[in-house]
Amino acid sequence: MSVAACPPAVRSVSLWRPRTARMGVPRVRVAVQSNLVSIAPMLTKLQRDCATPLPVLRHVADAMADDMRAGLAVDGGSDLKMILSYVDSLPTGNEKGLFYALDLGGTNFRVLRVQLGGKDERVIATEFDQVSIPQDLMFGTTEDLFDFIASGLAKFAQNEGGKFHLAQGRMREIGFTFSFPVKQTSIDAGILIKWTKGFAVSGTAGKDVVACLNEAMERQGLNMRVSALVNDTVGTLAGARYWDDDVMVAVILGTGTNACYVERVDAIPKLQGLKSSSGRTIVNTEWGAFSNGLPLTEYDREMDAESINPGEQIFEKTISGMYLGEIVRRVLVKMAEAGALFGECVPEKLSTPFMLGTPHISAIQQDNSKDLQAVGSILYDVAGVNSDLSARKIVVEVCDTLAKRGGRLAGAGIVGILQKMEENSEGVMSRKRTIVAMDGGLYEHYPQYRRYLQDAVTELLGSELSKNVVIEHSKDGSGIGAALLAATNSKYEHEF
Ligand code: BGC
Repeated sequence: MSVAACPPAVRSVSLWRPRTARMGVPRVRVAVQSNLVSIAPMLTKLQRDCATPLPVLRHVADAMADDMRAGLAVDGGSDLKMILSYVDSLPTGNEKGLFYALDLGGTNFRVLRVQLGGKDERVIATEFDQVSIPQDLMFGTTEDLFDFIASGLAKFAQNEGGKFHLAQGRMREIGFTFSFPVKQTSIDAGILIKWTKGFAVSGTAGKDVVACLNEAMERQGLNMRVSALVNDTVGTLAGARYWDDDVMVAVILGTGTNACYVERVDAIPKLQGLKSSSGRTIVNTEWGAFSNGLPLTEYDREMDAESINPGEQIFEKTISGMYLGEIVRRVLVKMAEAGALFGECVPEKLSTPFMLGTPHISAIQQDNSKDLQAVGSILYDVAGVNSDLSARKIVVEVCDTLAKRGGRLAGAGIVGILQKMEENSEGVMSRKRTIVAMDGGLYEHYPQYRRYLQDAVTELLGSELSKNVVIEHSKDGSGIGAALLAATNSKYEHEF
């Protein structure tokens, strides 16, 4: 275990007693109580700063709805970009044929082949491949990133194995899920506004990402075309809507976060005359950029200041999977430095940014054992710290505090969207059942977070209205959704 130099303040407060911890280095720690006394006020302050009582939730929901309105009125009208998706007809179930989907949005990209069989057969077959994106490509050049993606797609397309025959002259069509803020200019084109989620690829912002992909596919000699460019929220909504007409909202809670919903065209002043055959369209809110009235702490502010996009994506940095573990780590470092939470020294590993991930803090909260053995192991394996039971209990409390704030704020965000929809007399809460399709690893793998989210929705809507709002996990729906949107927007006549 590598140990960082101990700050003098820590030395003066720590005393040691022998310890036969299973993870090695015997330690002496006599003044445990007095150490923990100094940590208790820090924990209390954290809990106070992160608190989300009903008035805070109400404010967030109202502010979300206000920001949505302002973003719909005019481009740049609020933190929320309220991006028009150009998706105004959702899948009906009649889609037929072979379609591909390509999904780039986090540390992995996925390629998917979907065979659609229309109303009777629905999704006949799906095959997929997942490739993790090397770290250096996230900081490299546009060409390198898109070449990597196109070569993964080429490999996957090769093993189609002559099973499908397309009519002569017809290209294979792709639904391209690109999960970053993009200003769409049509259903199959859009300009990257900025990278999020730790990506900092040079030269892409300001470019049409479909053109970037087309050029890379050409370099690979791939004869495929993008028929639909979609955000992952939009893909999720389309994928879930294929099975259930009551789906009106989709939310991603994973590495990053975002939400989209079905909006009436006449409630979008900035559309200025653009027509939609259905009178509705999907709006991608890009709610990760929301920032109004959030309960933030010194740890959030420091993390933001040191991030590659300071001042941006504040809601995302408060509630999403990329950041929750890092905020916990920052709190623990402070508690270790100022209150000797883990003894005399702060191990180097704990001081390494992003060393503690959200999967770890979720695992920490799943430990129901008396001595919190699993918590101890995670802390040792991941952060290089030895911990006694009192320290472990504090760590669990810290994780819970941040999961609770994140989940409850996410719930308030959802209610904000429903409020905005309700005012268009959609009756999404008051009259009918409305489904919020939800996807993302954070939601899927963090039960406490999920519960906090649901609690906040129920608290805000009351037990009667909240029965009409069903949050449904739609696992990996965005891939099939993108393939379906490629089918809906196919430039060819339907094959069958
Ligand atoms: C991006 C969104 C995306 C979300 C979830 C955010 O960082 O800005 O476009 O939908 O992550 O993947």
